[in-house]
Amino acid sequence: MDALDTLKAKYLTAVANVGDEAGLEDLRVAALGKKGEISALMSGLGKMEPDQRRAAGAMLNVLKDEIDAALRAKKAALGDATLNERLRSEWLDVTLPGRPRRVGTIHPVSQVMEELTAIFADMGFAVAEGPQVESDWYNFDALNIPPEHPARQEHDTFFMNRAEGDNRPPHVLRTHTSPVQIRAMAAQGAPIRVIAPGRVYRMDMDQTHTPMFHQVEGLAIDRNISMANLKWVLEEFCRAFFEVPSVELRFRASHFPFTEPSAEVDIRCSWEGGQLKIGQGDKWMEILGSGMVHPKVLSAAGVNPDEWQGFAFGMGIDRIAMLKYGIPDLRAFFESDLRWLRHYGFAALNMPDLAGGLSA
Ligand code: PHE
Repeated sequence: MDALDTLKAKYLTAVANVGDEAGLEDLRVAALGKKGEISALMSGLGKMEPDQRRAAGAMLNVLKDEIDAALRAKKAALGDATLNERLRSEWLDVTLPGRPRRVGTIHPVSQVMEELTAIFADMGFAVAEGPQVESDWYNFDALNIPPEHPARQEHDTFFMNRAEGDNRPPHVLRTHTSPVQIRAMAAQGAPIRVIAPGRVYRMDMDQTHTPMFHQVEGLAIDRNISMANLKWVLEEFCRAFFEVPSVELRFRASHFPFTEPSAEVDIRCSWEGGQLKIGQGDKWMEILGSGMVHPKVLSAAGVNPDEWQGFAFGMGIDRIAMLKYGIPDLRAFFESDLRWLRHYGFAALNMPDLAGGLSA
């Protein structure tokens, strides 16, 4: 059976020399495929005499198995080679120190908003929102500031353009977050406990004033909420926010059209050596306006003042951010100077919460 030896030699050599998996598959088809050479010989067995067939069949089977084994061995070898090549080219030294990637920083104002939201959430306050372009009814009238009221002048309001021939009062850039009191009460009714952090606008610009700044409004309405509750909430807030064991607040009688009585609140601090310390010293720093919500404001928002009462406050977010993080100039907050942002910014993935430490 020289023919079989020749065939065997041909395929074993070809398999030994083939360099890739596609070429190997071609060889398999040529030898063992349905129309392959070995298969053709096998189908020739049928025409043989039984004795001859038995002998030839046995030899063909041996040949088939040998070629099959060679094909499989080569396939495994080629697979190993491919894997080794990948392992070599995708090799990575995991012992190299990591290179931290800069993903930007959190602006101090955003950080402080997260912090105060966490603190007030802990006291049961939800977050409410309102538009920055506001109708003058929400910004003024509903807050007991009628058109001729002098407080309208004090607010240094930005007015929006009106369409030609439109004689309705122009919309304004909200001058405070207090209109969100009205929107929240009108939407939700009483009882209610919300804070409303956001941007506000006034025509003003110097070291401590920018035309856009941030406030957080607080509102708590229930059947018998009093100034005492206001004082506790604010003290609790300041202690948590400034991360000091105790704070001292001073309530100064004041006037806002939308609260009665009204109080401005100062916090005790010291400025020794240019270093601000909260909760000690003999200086006072004003941080917010507050009071008991005026009955007319409740009525304007559809809440019955004979049944419900409560407090409201409005606090400057930029101001308390400057105090807490020792930032001297308010204008730098909004100049987008990357060096400033990197210096005063916060790690992007750190979410303030009371248990974990607010600014840790
Ligand atoms: N809206 C007032 C301001 O911008 C602050 C304030 C809010 C005062 C709520 C009393 C109650 O100055």
